[in-house]
Amino acid sequence: MEFVFNSWFGILILVAINLFFYLKWLVPKVASRPPGPPCWPIVGSLFYLSKIPHRSMENLAKKYGPIMYLRLGCLDHIIVSNADMAMEVLKIHDGDFASRPRMLAGKYAGFDWSSIGFSEYGDHWRLLCKICATKLFTQERLNSFQHGRQHEMACMVENIAKCSQGGKFVEMRPILLQLTRNNICRMLFGERPQKSNDILGNDFDDYFKSFSEMVTVVGKFNLSELIPILKPFDLQGLERHMKRLKIRIDNSLSNILKEYRKGNKTIVDSTMANFVEILLNLDKKLDDKSIMGVLSDMLEGGTSTSAFTMEWALLELILHPKIMKRAQEELDRVVGKNRRVFESDLPNLPYLQAIIKENFRLHPVVPLAVPHLTSKDTQILNYKIPANTIVLVNVWAIGHDPKVWKRPLEFDPDRVFGLDINVGGSNYNLLPFGSGRRRCPGLDLAQLMVQCGLATILHAFDWSLKPNVKLEDMNMMEDVGATSPLVEPLIVVAKPRLPIEIYKW
Ligand code: HEM
Repeated sequence: MEFVFNSWFGILILVAINLFFYLKWLVPKVASRPPGPPCWPIVGSLFYLSKIPHRSMENLAKKYGPIMYLRLGCLDHIIVSNADMAMEVLKIHDGDFASRPRMLAGKYAGFDWSSIGFSEYGDHWRLLCKICATKLFTQERLNSFQHGRQHEMACMVENIAKCSQGGKFVEMRPILLQLTRNNICRMLFGERPQKSNDILGNDFDDYFKSFSEMVTVVGKFNLSELIPILKPFDLQGLERHMKRLKIRIDNSLSNILKEYRKGNKTIVDSTMANFVEILLNLDKKLDDKSIMGVLSDMLEGGTSTSAFTMEWALLELILHPKIMKRAQEELDRVVGKNRRVFESDLPNLPYLQAIIKENFRLHPVVPLAVPHLTSKDTQILNYKIPANTIVLVNVWAIGHDPKVWKRPLEFDPDRVFGLDINVGGSNYNLLPFGSGRRRCPGLDLAQLMVQCGLATILHAFDWSLKPNVKLEDMNMMEDVGATSPLVEPLIVVAKPRLPIEIYKW
């Protein structure tokens, strides 16, 4: 009798304790967080996401609002989907939202979270940003590489002319990637990766192959990371894949650094100081992980993003021949037909600038920016956002917000033509480069490459789709990884439109 009484009493106490914690802790926690879709045990709200997460999140935000709670597996996320909320997170509370989560992406692609893009907000990140801002991205240094950029543009034109000879089709992605890679290699290493330079040529080749594969792999939703009980099984094989790629990336970058340490490299243009030597000779020595991290930040950040942006823009122009014609008329007026485009022409090409802004709105190649992390409990509107919450700014949804952009799916440069709309983070309706402390540090270089690259190819060639492909058949979906290129690489017809000597360097 006494035993039964004791066990009933024990159960009652347990129920009371649970009820107390439920009322005291869970109910207020749930009540004070932003609205979001139902959340199931273990998987959270994962079922609500499709293969293209930024599009599913935009859809969910229509129902739950511009600041939304989403539990993915066991990780708390806040999704921000309009300009006002982006301003709260990236401006008003910028400092509290400026860290990065410690995910596998940062371990493998960010060299144990020591690169700029993956390191937490703090002294290490500040030091690396300062080195890049003062030694790589100053206006003076960008100007000093102008000749190199001009050379790369000329090589691209020559290359396209050769590839298209005899009416052959041209695959644009490798050509645009080569343009941006050669350019960033000149800035970092003082030379372009050349086949003739066997050692570095092969290492760069291997590095770029492995790193672009890595970017695709780390951008995928990894169930074994979101649901810790699945971690040992690595169900999608993503971590195994990352480990394999990491070994190749480490090997190729260590070989490159070894060559520079030995001083055993060919400097094509000795007037250009090179960034890797600056990194190796800083007063306050950086460890190799950080050096490789920064180099990867620049090599990856500086290449595929700009190349994919140009590929999207070219496709939109082919689909809108009237807009392409108007851009070419502007180029012919400003540049004429007897020389290639110079960077000094860019300020005189307002219609081209409008095309590029509209393309950034419609096709931001980093659609969810890079995940942010809150470093302390914060309040936005009446919602409490606890420390260590992952925050995704849905740049894609912001650029497609129908309250701001009428007919948001339409490509219409006139909507921004003549307006003082800035893409560098001060206009929260258009945030292709993010904003605030974590804003993209390569913004100026990216703008130069995209503007000059697109102007150059539009001026030098007439563009069309392959004869058997109809405009309406084009797949306008994006591929999803850490960056979002066009799902199928663009293969087109290019017809020279300038005197023959312009196509030779
Ligand atoms: C069209 C070209 C580019 C686009 C659209 C782009 C976009 C972005 C975005 C959206 C972010 C994340 C911002 C955030 O977290 O809120 C970012 C970060 C970053 N980007 Fe870019 N980017 C481009 C070109 C470049 C270039 C040329 C470089 C360097 C050469 C670069 C290096 C970086 C780095 C290092 C970060 C991490 C910054 C940090 O975590 O503090 N990007 N970029």
